[in-house]
Amino acid sequence: MDYNTLMEKAIEASKNAYIPYSKFPVGACILTGNDKIYTGCNFENASLGLTICAERNAIGSAIADGERKIKAIAIYSPERDNCYPCGACRQVLHEFKSENGIDVILKNGNELVIHKIEDLLPGGFNL
Ligand code: THU
Repeated sequence: MDYNTLMEKAIEASKNAYIPYSKFPVGACILTGNDKIYTGCNFENASLGLTICAERNAIGSAIADGERKIKAIAIYSPERDNCYPCGACRQVLHEFKSENGIDVILKNGNELVIHKIEDLLPGGFNL
């Protein structure tokens, strides 16, 4: 799967963000170990701490469909270049790493920038 396509789908997903409080839309698109694709957007709540990030929304859809490995995730916000995942989402991604880790794909202007999840979360927690 072409990473540009993943980013295009993340951009599309960001348009569905429910963000009445922050006005900060985020979209994410996951490529799983079975080469399936799942998207997510952030959605907020009047009880602010209940907000769900775009990344975990996409991961939840993949898990609910039986997927257990993530090869790559594209993350996008129209509000900023290089929209890095929050710490909570890094740990949740860490849980579902594929054998080659996870490529975290960000957009910087017209360029895609790729990080490995291990570099974004050294020492991720395991049980
Ligand atoms: N947000 C995400 O969707 N993903 C992140 O990794 C960081 C933050 C959302 C949550 C909230 O709706 C908005 O961005 C501002 O924090």
